[in-house]
Amino acid sequence: MNLLVVNSEKFAATAADHIEAVVQSKAKVNICFPTGDTPKGVYLELERRVRHGMLSLKNVRGFGLDEWGELKDDNPIRCSSRIRNDLYNRVDIEEYYYVNPQAFDMAEECKEYERLIQTKGGLHLSMLGIGLNGHVGFNEPGSRVDSRTRVVKLDDTTKRVSEKYGWKQKQPIWGVTLGVGTLLESEKVLILANGRHKAQIVQKAIEDPVTPFVPVSLLRDHRNVTFLLDTEAAFLL
Ligand code: F6R
Repeated sequence: MNLLVVNSEKFAATAADHIEAVVQSKAKVNICFPTGDTPKGVYLELERRVRHGMLSLKNVRGFGLDEWGELKDDNPIRCSSRIRNDLYNRVDIEEYYYVNPQAFDMAEECKEYERLIQTKGGLHLSMLGIGLNGHVGFNEPGSRVDSRTRVVKLDDTTKRVSEKYGWKQKQPIWGVTLGVGTLLESEKVLILANGRHKAQIVQKAIEDPVTPFVPVSLLRDHRNVTFLLDTEAAFLL
């Protein structure tokens, strides 16, 4: 496990450097991208590099990490809408995929997503944020280390924070996510956390024993995982 702690001002650029290194290492690169607050600065930095001709993401295939259930395709708060808005539409990525939470047969849709990732050559990089309850994607506390892409019931903490993602009238009940086992098969994993509000869960994730009750801790055993933290998120280490 690699642990990298940087000043808040260097956080986005350091993450972008990691992504850039992977992008330049292969002719075609499959990257799993998260949504949420954590990667926003990273996406802006990628956009800046692309706009200034310092970087091209043309060879990147984007794979969505997770998705809320119950929302129609055109809903702006869908993770797929957010990632299009925050990244894909702003850079030169042309090929991207996500799980359709409106599929008639969700079990088959999840299997199909896994097959697609395999057909395209597997994930080369999975970039992840950490939920306040230790989730990665929607792998909520209790998720198994060998879990695959699947529908999950959302944890109370995830439901509570859903408001900041635009869930105003009601709380979401379920979501769909790449599994911990799926993420462990990724060539590289980059786990991001910034801000003092993440310090407690980061400390559990990195220093406490590995446990499915803090799902992100399960990724510590990955052969090429980097935790990139800003000094605020690393405050309790
Ligand atoms: C989002 C996702 C979630 C978030 C996590 C942290 O696609 O998969 O696991 O990464 O909840 O959210 P933020 O970054 O908003 O603190």
